[in-house]
Amino acid sequence: MSVADPRPRVWVSQPLFGDVIARLREHFDVRTVDTITQHSPQDIAQALGDVDGALVTLNDRIGAAEIAGASRLRVIANVGVGYNNLDLPALTQAGILASNTPDVLTQTTADFGWALMMAAARRISEAERWLRDGHWQQWNFETLLGGDVHGSTLGILGMGRIGQAIARRAAGFDMRVRYHNRSRLPVEVEQACAAHYVDFDTLLAQSDHLMLVLPYTPANHHLIDAAALARMPAHATLTNIARGGVVDEDALADALANGRLAAAGLDVFEGEPAINPRLLALRNAVLTPHIASGSLATRRAMVALAVDNLTAALGFGPAAGKPPS
Ligand code: DGY
Repeated sequence: MSVADPRPRVWVSQPLFGDVIARLREHFDVRTVDTITQHSPQDIAQALGDVDGALVTLNDRIGAAEIAGASRLRVIANVGVGYNNLDLPALTQAGILASNTPDVLTQTTADFGWALMMAAARRISEAERWLRDGHWQQWNFETLLGGDVHGSTLGILGMGRIGQAIARRAAGFDMRVRYHNRSRLPVEVEQACAAHYVDFDTLLAQSDHLMLVLPYTPANHHLIDAAALARMPAHATLTNIARGGVVDEDALADALANGRLAAAGLDVFEGEPAINPRLLALRNAVLTPHIASGSLATRRAMVALAVDNLTAALGFGPAAGKPPS
């Protein structure tokens, strides 16, 4: 007869780095899966039904229905800085703590934003496809000409940690930096980033390269719509490393197809992993599968922080009792 493990129970929704997750086994009875799994709402509800804590990713949408039967659940540790997959009011009402993983991914994500912006501006993906498809017969002065990044104006929408890290990199490219944010940053932070606050319309009008780094909320759903895109210069690029729902993808596809916008770099999509087929068909859209924080070291650090958050919230480890991230 097997003896039930009396320790608190934890559900880990995806197969994350095994050696990092192993730390949970020091304190908890861990339930997890062997392969990457798209859990249905019913599966999530069932998994949460008899655990004390859960470690989840942005794939796992958790709201009132998923926690309805989760009478033991005390904490959900999200592996990611964005937490739009969690219905925070519902969790708060149920007395369930939620944590995320800020800071550890800031620099890696800022690097990737720059990579996407530069790929879009200088047509790197398009050029590589063109070369691999055998079109390069002779060097030509006018082949695949792009827009400059250096000396241009970088616009940043959302000036949190990642936005600021993106801004600081612009100094090396002699760029002017404009930003718009829910609230204006303190002057000393603006000075450290050499960034100037402008209103939303001015940001759209003045940005040669606009980068979206804002959290996704119902209030900014499709914030970048046809009207916003129409205010941007036709030579501009748009890079989205925030969440797909911030952009009206059909309006963006229209703008890219009819020359109202030069190019886009998109790491996030409204229906990901499904991609709007109109974006797939555009040569001036650089598309990547939500990997902005995806360096090995950073993804490990994110899981480690989520493990720490979960462990502390359930009363174990050196940070027990301290507020999680
Ligand atoms: C986040 O952390 O929110 C990213 O989108 C996933 O790494």
